[in-house]
Amino acid sequence: MPERTDVPSLPLAAGPQASFDAMWADLQPVGLEASTGGYRRFAWTGEDHDLREWFAAECARRGLDLTTDRMGNQWAWWGDPDAAAAAGRPGVAVGSHLDSVPDGGAFDGPLGVVSGLVAIDVLRENGFAPSRPIGVVNFVDEEGARFGVACAGSRVITGAMSADRARSLTDADGVSMAEALRSAGRDPSALGRDEETLRRIGCFVELHVEQGRGLIDLGHPVAVGTDIWPHGRWRFDFPGAANHAGTTRLEDRQDAMLGYADTVLAARSVAAQRGCVATIGKVVVEPGGVNAIPSHVTGWLDSRGPVESDVRAVVAELSSRAETYGATVTEESWTTTTRFDQTLAVRLRDTLGGEVPMLGTGAGHDAGVLANHGVPTAMLFVRNPTGISHSPEEFAEAEDCHRGVAALARVVEDLAR
Ligand code: GLV
Ligand code: MN
Ligand code: MN
Repeated sequence: MPERTDVPSLPLAAGPQASFDAMWADLQPVGLEASTGGYRRFAWTGEDHDLREWFAAECARRGLDLTTDRMGNQWAWWGDPDAAAAAGRPGVAVGSHLDSVPDGGAFDGPLGVVSGLVAIDVLRENGFAPSRPIGVVNFVDEEGARFGVACAGSRVITGAMSADRARSLTDADGVSMAEALRSAGRDPSALGRDEETLRRIGCFVELHVEQGRGLIDLGHPVAVGTDIWPHGRWRFDFPGAANHAGTTRLEDRQDAMLGYADTVLAARSVAAQRGCVATIGKVVVEPGGVNAIPSHVTGWLDSRGPVESDVRAVVAELSSRAETYGATVTEESWTTTTRFDQTLAVRLRDTLGGEVPMLGTGAGHDAGVLANHGVPTAMLFVRNPTGISHSPEEFAEAEDCHRGVAALARVVEDLAR
């Protein structure tokens, strides 16, 4: 497919390009796991702390006003978002997240945060005087890698996840989110829907690396997001009884692994029958001895698809099957179909020159959570030449990243004029 030339006609000046490249280089070592080449940047850890400090320093360097909401999301504003909200012209927010999945790629999240900061540099270099405040957000705990629920930062401030639930989530070591927040110097009792933060956001545009092959196939560097597949996470607990691997007769065993294994294989075939995807990417086996029959297996199912009722049917069928092994199934999160604000999406496309493709995704985002809670929201995707994400193979060419920044700056200029 020939390369189209719409977005490349938005050049990014040398100064902002250098600023992008310098920030990217600063982030490169943080949380990098040498043995895999992937990133481990989990919420409220030392790595997360360093990333938050980095964000604060970049905002200070730009003279942006940094506020941290009650959940811990960091918002940097150019202009006064409260005065603007009071005047009925709330701000234009951009940004994304800095945390990662286990051994994740460098781009999922940070690309949107860095691009948001550089977009402000571009607008300032162009002498643009916004008539609405412009904000850049670093959403906390987008991946849910530590506490299990993705987009915890946006879910809590919108009320999609209750404060009690958030506080009680635990990590693999049994540390609750409340304890993690407290250790990071935050007050977990303050969590809850956050009107003060929400009323500042007139609209939100999240730029993100594309996590599939859409833009490779279309031959475009940038797309406007249209929708996110419905998706969720379910915990499957299979019971068993520990016993000796050598002395216990096959007929006497209660092996928790068998139900788990059957469910993993069924997940693939049931999802395929319904045009969905299903993944069990995390498993905990107890007691975890090579020579002990598993007494308990916990597996986490992630299922998604274009049609909500099909995803629900996949999960229902797998749950019934697992229950025949005595398993219990718990829904840990659910995100309904997200349709981004169509007027906003078309406005972005037109601003970028009508050739820019419109693309849906199976990946979840804070943008989806905000959209489902009434915030006019849109996304921009930047081409990923590997088509791979949640892996060290995730990538975007520097030239495409620069194009993404230029596109974001143009969009923000249009929205904040
Ligand atoms: C987040 O990246 C998700 O789609 O789970
Ligand atoms: Mn991700
Ligand atoms: Mn992401």
